[in-house]
Formats: sequence, structure tokens, C-alpha cells
Amino acid sequence: MKIDVLLGLQWGDEGKGKVVDVLTPSYDVVARFQGGPNAGHTLEFNGEKYVLRSIPSGIFQGDKINIIGNGVVLDPALFREEATALEASGHPLKERLIISKKAHLILPTHRLLDAAYETAKKDSKVGTTGRGIGPTYTDKISRNGIRVGDILENFETKYTAAKERHEKILKSLNYKYDLTEIEKKWFEGIEYLKQFKFVDSEHVINNLLKEDKTILCEGAQGTMLDIDFGSYPFVTSSNTICAGACTGLGVAPNKIGDVYGIFKAYCTRVGAGPFPTELFDADGDKIREIGHEFGAVTGRKRRCGWIDLVALKYAVMLDGVTNLIMMKSDVLDSFETIKACVAYKIDGKEVDYLPYSLEGKIEPVYKEVPGWKTDLSKIKSEADFPKEFKSYIDFLEKELGARIKIVSVGPDREQTIIRYN
Ligand code: GDP
Ligand code: IMO
Ligand code: MG
Repeated sequence: MKIDVLLGLQWGDEGKGKVVDVLTPSYDVVARFQGGPNAGHTLEFNGEKYVLRSIPSGIFQGDKINIIGNGVVLDPALFREEATALEASGHPLKERLIISKKAHLILPTHRLLDAAYETAKKDSKVGTTGRGIGPTYTDKISRNGIRVGDILENFETKYTAAKERHEKILKSLNYKYDLTEIEKKWFEGIEYLKQFKFVDSEHVINNLLKEDKTILCEGAQGTMLDIDFGSYPFVTSSNTICAGACTGLGVAPNKIGDVYGIFKAYCTRVGAGPFPTELFDADGDKIREIGHEFGAVTGRKRRCGWIDLVALKYAVMLDGVTNLIMMKSDVLDSFETIKACVAYKIDGKEVDYLPYSLEGKIEPVYKEVPGWKTDLSKIKSEADFPKEFKSYIDFLEKELGARIKIVSVGPDREQTIIRYN
């Protein structure tokens, strides 16, 4: 059996949580492979709304196994908050969620370092989520990290050594802080975490595959935030691309099956960094308002713009996308015309590939197509799509070289049209 991957093709918040939840009934297992509580994955069903940060979005669909893989970074305090809220709302987790011993722990001082580094960057801030993601991955790569499995052995010694090392850096940055409260919550989180099953998830996953179980991997963030291929340095600190599923779960590349690349019918970005198709006009405000484009984790205003097919093609290439998923088409319902960026003009020259840097003056070259001026949110079947919307889908499929399998027309689980199997 192969493992399917669902991941964001833009700058995150494409709607991954919603679609993972929709697809989960066809899978036995859902696994997160990178990122941490910088993610905010929203799911809506039966009039309820949930935002998941570290817990996979397969948790609401019956007795599926959910895995937090080795590539994830976990904050025990935030995990406890998230998990206890879910349990209180009638969604028991303990039998259904397993955690890799090799996942790295976000320490309270990682969070402080995240804030201190951002402050030190002054005008060139990344605009991180402030969750300690960068410093935790930095410690992992520099072989100084603490992993979930370490909780079981010599934990206090390892924790104290890491904390002391971090405090020296914080002092050198002249960063003022009070650890008392967050450290207390963090250790409560560690105690809570101990109730869960810690496993070598690479063995678990490969054994499940041998037993012909079906697995869906849930990406966090998006391809344009990938540490290697995103708009560096305005990126997150993990590999968000499909290859990240291999390293973040311990599955060989030849075990990857379908790759679902998810994108919004327009584009958004949170935090700083280049965004060639960003709108600063009434159209941008209209998208933000209709699309409720405010961060699920931080509440920050999301920057909004037209769809960028140059960046999307790059993402489709990097991820080996086999099927596309288009989200939030309904947000564009009232637009007379819709624009799609098909090339960039740089120094007067038109290019249709992603350049080394997106910074500097890039002028998007747009193709403008007629809007559909129809309420898509109530449509249940493809047969009822207005003709302008069908043409928009055809145009995108041609440009991106892959078929759009799923079209989402609203935040609810039910507002999802699966075009083919
Ligand atoms: P994720 O991080 O990729 O899971 O996405 P987020 O949850 O951060 O952001 C997506 C937002 O769009 C959430 O508020 C969803 O409830 C909402 N959403 C998802 N799909 C649709 C859709 O098709 N139409 C509309 N209007 N909202 C959607
Ligand atoms: P989901 O999974 C959107 C952005 C931050 C910042 C940059 C680095 O919900 O799509 P970090 O805290 O990771 O060091 O921040 O990445 N970012 C996201 N933007 N959606 C996300 O996750 C994001 N996770 C991080 O805004 O620009
Ligand atoms: Mg999100």
C-alpha cells in the first residue's frame, strides 16, 4: 500500500484541515509530518468549529489512528490545552493518537528565543507565529534538541542544560523575560503528555503499510514557506514540500502514492515577505472580508491577492502533485472579473518561472477572466457549476498541468464537491 500526501501549495492556510477531515473516512491513518503549533487547521461540521494546531485533522472521523510524526515539533503546554479542549468537547484522544519519540520538544526558552530573534531583526522581522518553531528546529539540526523520547530518561538534566544554554543567548540579546508561569504550564504539559503512547512511528507506519492500511499525511504551512524552496528567509523552518513527508515520518520516497496539492482560488500570506500578487486596494479588502482572512492561530490580518500561477506551477513541480484541490472559490462569487497571474515582469522582461528571489520589483502579468456572479456555496454537484466557473477550472487545470479533483465552496465539511474518484 502507498501513502498519500495532502499539502499546501501557497503560503499556508489553504484549507488543509477541512479537506483532511473530508478525506479521512477513506483512510485508516492520518499523520502529521512537520511543523508544530504554528499551524492552525480549521474544521467545521454540525455547526461546530475546531482549530487544530498539533493534532492531526483525522481526529474527528471515528476510530482512525492519528500520528504525530518525528518531523513535528511539539509544545507540551499548547498540546495539553488543545487536547483537553477536544476531550472536553466529547472527542477522546488517548486511544487514537500516538506520538513519535523522535519528535522534538519546543521548550519555553525556544519561544522566548523566537521573540528575542524577531526583536533583534528590527525591520527585517519574519513575522513568525511566536511559537518557538525556528529555535526548536535550529536545536534539532545543531544536535542540541530534546525529543519526546527523552521525557522517559534523564529528562531534568537534559532540560536544565538546554535551558541554561538558551538563557545565555537570551542574556546576550539583552532580552528580558519571566519564565515562571510558562515553565510551570510546560511541565504540566509534560505530565499530561505521558498519558499518550510514545512510539517509533517509522516502524508503526511501515508495519501499517505492510498490513495494507491506507495512510494520509497532512502537511502544515505551504510550499512557498518551505525552508529550502520558499521565499527565504521569510519562510518557516521545516520542509513543507512532499519530500518532508518522507523524512518527517520515515517512509521511503517510493512509498508515496497520490499527492494532493491544495490552493485557494486566490492567494493569502501572513507575516512578512514578498508576495508578488498582493492587493492593496478595495479588491484585496473585499477578499479579506468575504474570506474571513484572519489568522487561525494569531488572529493577524492575512494579506490577500490574486492567484499566482507562476508560484503554483513551481509548487506543483516540487511536490509532484497528482491531484489539485481548489478552496474558497465561493469567496470570489461577487467579482465581475477575476485575475490570475500567468507571468512576472522583472526589469521589463517577462518570465514564467520562479526567480531566485521574489524580492525587488516584480510586476505580475495577469490574465483576466469573467466572474461567475453566482452563489457557489449552496451548489452540491459539478453539474450545477456556472459556465464561467467551469471555464475557470479548465483554465487552471491547463495552466497547472493537473486535474482539480475537489472544489470547496464553503467552510463546512458538506460544502465540498468531489469531481471524480
Ligand atoms: P489550513 O491551515 O490550511 O487548515 O487553513 P486555515 O484553517 O488556517 O484557513 C482556512 C480558512 O478558510 C478556515 O477558516 C476555513 O474554515 C475556511 N474555509 C475552508 N474552505 C473554505 C471554502 O471553501 N470557502 C470558505 N468561504 N471558507 C473556507
Ligand atoms: P498552516 O498550517 C500560514 C508563517 C508565519 C511566518 C513564517 C514563519 O495553518 O497553514 P514560524 O512561526 O513558522 O517560524 O513563522 O511562516 N506561517 C504560517 N502562515 N499558515 C501557517 O500554518 C503558518 N505557519 C507559519 O506567519 O510568516
Ligand atoms: Mg492555518
